[in-house]
Amino acid sequence: MNELAGKHIVLGLSGGVACYKAADLCRQLIKEGATVQVVMTEAAEQFITPVTMQALSGRTVYGSQWDSREPNNMPHINLSREAHAILIAPCSADFVARLTQGRADELLSLLCLARPAASVPLLLAPAMNREMWSHPATQRNLQQVARDGAVVLGVGNGDQACGETGDGRMLEPHELVDELVAFFAPKVLAGHKVLVTAGPTFEAIDPVRGITNLSSGKMGFAVARAAREAGAEVTLVAGPVHLDTPRGARRVDVKSALEMAAAVESYTPEATVFIATAAVADWRPAAPSDQKIKKDGTGATPSLAFVENPDILATVARSERALAGQLFCVGFAAESHDLLAHATAKRARKAVPLLVGNIGPATFGQDDNALLLVDAEGHCELPRASKRVLARQLIEDIAARCR
Ligand code: CTP
Repeated sequence: MNELAGKHIVLGLSGGVACYKAADLCRQLIKEGATVQVVMTEAAEQFITPVTMQALSGRTVYGSQWDSREPNNMPHINLSREAHAILIAPCSADFVARLTQGRADELLSLLCLARPAASVPLLLAPAMNREMWSHPATQRNLQQVARDGAVVLGVGNGDQACGETGDGRMLEPHELVDELVAFFAPKVLAGHKVLVTAGPTFEAIDPVRGITNLSSGKMGFAVARAAREAGAEVTLVAGPVHLDTPRGARRVDVKSALEMAAAVESYTPEATVFIATAAVADWRPAAPSDQKIKKDGTGATPSLAFVENPDILATVARSERALAGQLFCVGFAAESHDLLAHATAKRARKAVPLLVGNIGPATFGQDDNALLLVDAEGHCELPRASKRVLARQLIEDIAARCR
């Protein structure tokens, strides 16, 4: 989606097996529109060749501070001045230690030291064995580089090249791309705690059957991601969907409307923004069977009685904090027709300041959507675009209303 269009990234590789992932990372950065200048330490060249990185980045790779290709013979100055960010991936334990000391005896640490710290951020993607990761020296060094202004990204947990299992794996390339995109996003919701509901709910009839709807959760997940990128702390209460959790969001999985209502109730006291994108089932079977309902051979069909589910959004919108203006509530309306009229009526019924209407059948499961924003003053349209783009626009709009 060209999320990094116009960004020039210095991708630094220090020595570690995770160098093999740096090749894919380089590709993905370029796919997102970035230009990538690779700089490798001597140790990194033991794990992957500059030839590979040159072919993937389309630029000659730098490895020495004595590289005479630069007319002024100062690659550390030139490379660091033209970057929008320096990303060290993988960042070895040794490289972190070098950064803490401000070492300058090889090109990569030299250019990190020489970077204009106020305008060129330094992001580190650590990668190492779990014992090296948890060693007090490494943890101490990471704290030090963070204090010195570097952004230390997390690590993954799992199988390691050495055969051990634990913390210390480098984040996957797509996770690093997400981190970089998030890093560049304007922090319009910094300091906010955003609670999002997403996806359908599932109302059990018996242990193997239930009632649900076609919501995929994509819009809600995109909203959660955009909110986190905008600097908010995000809790995502998700019905049954098959989607990856947006990086950095706290996810609470639920099935039924009652479970969703309970989860929302426990997280609203700390929230400052509530965005209800979930397609909550309006009714649930009144008496779900605890055993599978069997055919009795006569052709008789079971009759189901329903009870209404609590209206989660309306309940939150009526809460003391919402009424006091401490919790900004946003509703969604999935309609099949007469969008403006239904969305306007629904906004009034739910007593929310902002209601976002969309045509359900045209968007369920799709990657794009079109939104109609309805507030007390009137309405405006966010024309058809990817859910990712719309989510960002919506978050900007909400942030402006929360200022
Ligand atoms: N919603 C909710 N709890 C419910 C039903 C809906 O929190 N039990 C929220 C949805 O998450 C959405 C908004 O209310 O933000 C509108 O949902 P929608 O299903 O479109 O509206 P309903 O209230 O169910 O009205 P109707 O079925 O008549 O269209």
